Amino acid sequence: MKQIQKAADLQQAVHEAKDKGLEIGLVPTMGALHEGHLSLIERALKENDLVVVSLFVNPIQFNNKEDLEKYPRTIDADLELIKNLELRIKNEAKASALLAFTPTVNEMYPDGEPKEVYHFGPIEEVMEGPRRPGHFSGVAVVVRRLFDLAQPHRAYFGEKDYQQIAVIRNLLEQIKYPIELVPCPIVRADDGLALSSRNMRLSPAARQMAPAINATLEQAAEMAEYEEVDDVKEWVLDTLASYHEINDSPNGLKFEPEYFEIVDAITLQPIADWDEAGELGAVGCIAVWLDGVRLIDIVKF
Ligand code: PAJ
Repeated sequence: MKQIQKAADLQQAVHEAKDKGLEIGLVPTMGALHEGHLSLIERALKENDLVVVSLFVNPIQFNNKEDLEKYPRTIDADLELIKNLELRIKNEAKASALLAFTPTVNEMYPDGEPKEVYHFGPIEEVMEGPRRPGHFSGVAVVVRRLFDLAQPHRAYFGEKDYQQIAVIRNLLEQIKYPIELVPCPIVRADDGLALSSRNMRLSPAARQMAPAINATLEQAAEMAEYEEVDDVKEWVLDTLASYHEINDSPNGLKFEPEYFEIVDAITLQPIADWDEAGELGAVGCIAVWLDGVRLIDIVKF
């Protein structure tokens, strides 16, 4: 692993790799790495000759200043995790080099806050879109910049941020870059909780309760075989909202669901009937507050 802090140095390394005909895989992250991120890096190492992992807390995708300030920054530990992963999978990796790109905000945005704005139509009018104005445009700006710098053949994104994948797919259509988007499955803790850097903010009691989100979604997937879409939706929201009344919830903690939508896996538009889902089927996407922490998860139907 080699750490690179300057955009020009990354461009130089990419230039040399391209000259040699090497294939490049890009894994964009905001650091605070866990096994979820590492699964993306592992896959990229197995499928490309050179892997670029970016670790950059992108200020322009946060619409809440406090959230940006609270975002964990653990760069030394992150670099250790990457090095250990490289060692662990040395024999299975195709890639002969890994570049960890850790720019400052100034390095990434030398002309100050970027002015460009991206629009994604109906994809951003649902779920996270209206609740986080400007978020997906901010994601698109940084991801495009990373695409320009790393010029990857493939880019790896996790299905945990399901709507983000649809946004990047749409971005690639807009900018017409020949990059293969590789969606990767969610990595979960043994008890089913989707790994997230936000899990660090859960109190021990909340952490103990949080796996009920995935458990509820898994039950919903079973129900989907014989129940209507609206009934499954209502059941998931009710089950979580009334969890504390039925279970012995630690410290009286409550789930506060923000939304649960059942949408087409590609268009992300809500469906009213299971038949409305296209080739890739339907996905249920949820955002839930627990003890002041906002958690998201998905289930495939
Ligand atoms: P971040 O939240 O750091 O996530 C980086 C990548 O890791 C994303 O593609 C995310 O979906 C994936 N990921 C997170 N948790 C995962 C899990 N439990 N299983 C599998 N994959 C998981 O997403 C971002 O950063 C930013 O928006 C970014 C794309 C880097 C742009 O700034």
